Amino acid sequence: MALKFVVLLIMSVLNFADSSNILSFCPTPSYSHQLSCLAIIQSLIDRGHNVTVFSCNPEILDPHPNLHMIDINMFYDVYLDYQRKNNFSLQKYLWPSECLLPIAEVLAIYMDIIFSSESMQNILRSNDTKFDLILYEGLYPGALALKHHYNVPSVVIFTVPLYIPVLYSMGNPINPSYLSSFVTNYSDKMTFYQRIINSFYTLYEMYVHNYYGYPKMDAVMKKYFGNDLPSSKELEMNNSLLILSGDLSQSYPIPLQPNTIQVGTLHIKPNKPLPKDLQNLMDNAKDGFIYFSLGSNMKGTSLPVDKRNAFMKAFKQFPKIKVLMKWESDIEFPDKPANVYLKKWLPQNDILAHKNLKLFITQGGHQSRQEAVHYGVPVLTLPLFWDQEWNAKKSEHEEAGLTINFFEITYDKVYQKLNELLTKDKYKRNMERLSAISKDKPTGGGETAAWWIEYVIRHKGAPQLRPAVKDLYWFQYLLLDIIAFISVLLFVFIYLIYFIAKRFLSQSPNKVKIKSQ
Ligand SMILES: *[C@@H]1O[C@H](CO)[C@@H](O)[C@H](O)[C@H]1NC(C)=O
Ligand SMILES: *[C@@H]1O[C@H](CO)[C@@H](O)[C@H](O)[C@H]1NC(C)=O
Ligand SMILES: *[C@@H]1O[C@H](CO)[C@@H](O)[C@H](O)[C@H]1NC(C)=O
Repeated sequence: MALKFVVLLIMSVLNFADSSNILSFCPTPSYSHQLSCLAIIQSLIDRGHNVTVFSCNPEILDPHPNLHMIDINMFYDVYLDYQRKNNFSLQKYLWPSECLLPIAEVLAIYMDIIFSSESMQNILRSNDTKFDLILYEGLYPGALALKHHYNVPSVVIFTVPLYIPVLYSMGNPINPSYLSSFVTNYSDKMTFYQRIINSFYTLYEMYVHNYYGYPKMDAVMKKYFGNDLPSSKELEMNNSLLILSGDLSQSYPIPLQPNTIQVGTLHIKPNKPLPKDLQNLMDNAKDGFIYFSLGSNMKGTSLPVDKRNAFMKAFKQFPKIKVLMKWESDIEFPDKPANVYLKKWLPQNDILAHKNLKLFITQGGHQSRQEAVHYGVPVLTLPLFWDQEWNAKKSEHEEAGLTINFFEITYDKVYQKLNELLTKDKYKRNMERLSAISKDKPTGGGETAAWWIEYVIRHKGAPQLRPAVKDLYWFQYLLLDIIAFISVLLFVFIYLIYFIAKRFLSQSPNKVKIKSQ
């Protein structure tokens, strides 16, 4: 007993010696973003760090003495309110390029709310709390004011893959000839036409980030930190590390600098037992079942009636296959086929793990797709928002799923795609191949991320990871100055030859003769 106590005491002292004080800023009101960010926080807590967290879903983590959670759940209402006032609805299809401006605007609104809050002001006023590192979600470069305030290293997290402006800020090469922007639905192999569009979108994404998003956020941050605060853009260049939630099962191979780490899937937890009724239903679905959920933003009840009917009529053609559908209402819709079961809320992670699951009909949000990959479940993607078209394309590219566009949902199309996915086994095989790729790692995503965060703290910001390309002007990086210099030399050289030749020719005997006449 005494020995055990001593061991525990020594362990806690050792832990204390290594323990760092970390401030985490991931305020996006989206359950899937929160799952990924908080998975990193859990790993940091497990490794003995003291973490202060702003989160919209504090209930995701169990309480712990080292976890200081600041609940900002009201951001869900702020977001809904913004959507209502600005006629920006997530309950319908949005062109990816249509989302960029409103999202940039709403992010600045969140920043204002957080930094004016009592809890943030208390943290800033307290003179005893010294943080060792700022961890923040890449959509909020304004949070780097905290880095400036505490003069500590910062690590940026991105919970969706390959957001180009943030990749660029770490010095990663951005070449639209094979790196497709997430606002397109292209793979890494593009036609001439697609490369034109992709180049345009890449520039547009950079433009919105630099000239629309940053200034809006900087204006807010200056209210709290004064006019001497460096711009988000300058501060972002000094991030020590970028952590991406993803891997090569979910995106395409591209060159990444040593300061950019793809840690794989972050949020998947060990399975919990299903509720009894669901367990029975799924165990009894001997011919398989389909899971139909459009994620946490888009409600099943928001799917237009004609589109819903197209799906229902198609489900009827597979009477032996059961369909489990997320439906956020107590009232069932009319003409519900007998093989369709409605539930208000479904434990997605545990459903996807069930052996009888044949197909996942999803909006293709990054976290849902990561789960589908993890459990090897083929997908029929109905993309609606942000990166979902891009994600859908990757599943299609790997022949691990099919895509149905919102505007082409008709009974014929749905039936044809369901039939293909339910009768051909290549989709299942390919998803299992991706699953094996995704799981083939020495450590889990959260643990890898936590290790790298500690690395940055141990090496005081880890300047050894910083590539010199960050200090070059774009024309230096593209060697345009060298090309210009050599062009001038070449021009001078050619001109000289021309000049000499002309002189020489003009002194040829013929001319001399003519002159002497
Ligand atoms: C942990 O963080 C909290 C909240 O920021 C702070 O009050 C406390 O002093 C920190 N504890 C240690 C041991 O640094
Ligand atoms: C923190 O320090 C500042 C300047 O030294 C002082 O003005 C302020 O009152 C202190 N705040 C607290 C809460 O002690
Ligand atoms: C970024 O880091 C460099 C080198 O450490 C430093 O000189 C510069 O002032 C920093 N920039 C900002 C905006 O903090």
